[in-house]
Amino acid sequence: MSIGNGEISKNGSVMIECEDVHKAFEGHQVLEGVSCQIPSGKISVVMGPSGTGKSVLLRHIVGLLSPDRGDVLVAGKSVPSLNEDELLELRRNIGMLFQDGALFSSMNLFDNVAFPLRQHTKKQESEIREIVMERLQEVGLAGSEKKMPNELSGGMRKRAGFARALVLEPEILLFDEPDSGLDPVRTALLCELIKEIQQKYGSTGVVISHDIKSCFNIGDHIILLHGGKVVDQGSKEQLQSSNKPFTQQFIKGAVEGPLGME
Ligand SMILES: Nc1ncnc2c1ncn2[C@@H]1O[C@H](COP(=O)(O)OP(=O)(O)OP(=O)(O)O)[C@@H](O)[C@H]1O
Ligand SMILES: [Mg+2]
Repeated sequence: MSIGNGEISKNGSVMIECEDVHKAFEGHQVLEGVSCQIPSGKISVVMGPSGTGKSVLLRHIVGLLSPDRGDVLVAGKSVPSLNEDELLELRRNIGMLFQDGALFSSMNLFDNVAFPLRQHTKKQESEIREIVMERLQEVGLAGSEKKMPNELSGGMRKRAGFARALVLEPEILLFDEPDSGLDPVRTALLCELIKEIQQKYGSTGVVISHDIKSCFNIGDHIILLHGGKVVDQGSKEQLQSSNKPFTQQFIKGAVEGPLGME
């Protein structure tokens, strides 16, 4: 992956690093010193109560938000200090699924998924069609390619956003609650697909999720966010044996009533 003029060198085995990230909106402090490391070539899962700043944190990684204090490094480069060209280059290497799917409302499903390919590659339309149809098939949307976003259910929009995030086979994948609004079977399939893609391309994945089962299923590294800070992070086993009360409560609570977490 390259950003700007230089080939980007992975910072050891860490792909993304948040250092003491602070962010407030109109006096409302959301992130109060978030520090975490996202290992390269693995899937990290970010969990935490609703409204805790998970989506805000993800937006810092793609440079859609800048920290008031602290730094966010992707492959060793400080995202807040990238210029416009470098930001574009960074985003070309990041596939992002927004919480609401974030489809272009004026384009049908096919064009939405084809968009990054048309914008960032010189591929022929025939090849684009092949890739788009394959991705739509994978997320269970074959046959819906002519539909407009407002004709789709929330779950379908989510899956379309997922297909779009994957078309460029990016090195970094950021998924904001890929499993919300989906039935359990689709959730399981989607988790499998995330894992499959990650293994196939060795990409670095960051998944925000409320579903403790899917988290533990796909997450190599788990980060727990609460009160504007990272309260715990580690492997599944490390978190399960953690003696931090919040970690235990969160893991237990989520297992007992995953719906209650939203
Ligand atoms: N652009 C913005 N302007 C003002 N406030 C914002 C903005 N973005 C987020 N917030 C606030 O930041 C807080 C955290 O929001 P965020 O969307 O990151 O929560 P979350 O952890 O993703 O929650 P959920 O699990 O419900 O998606 C909320 O109080 C939200 O209102
Ligand atoms: Mg969110």
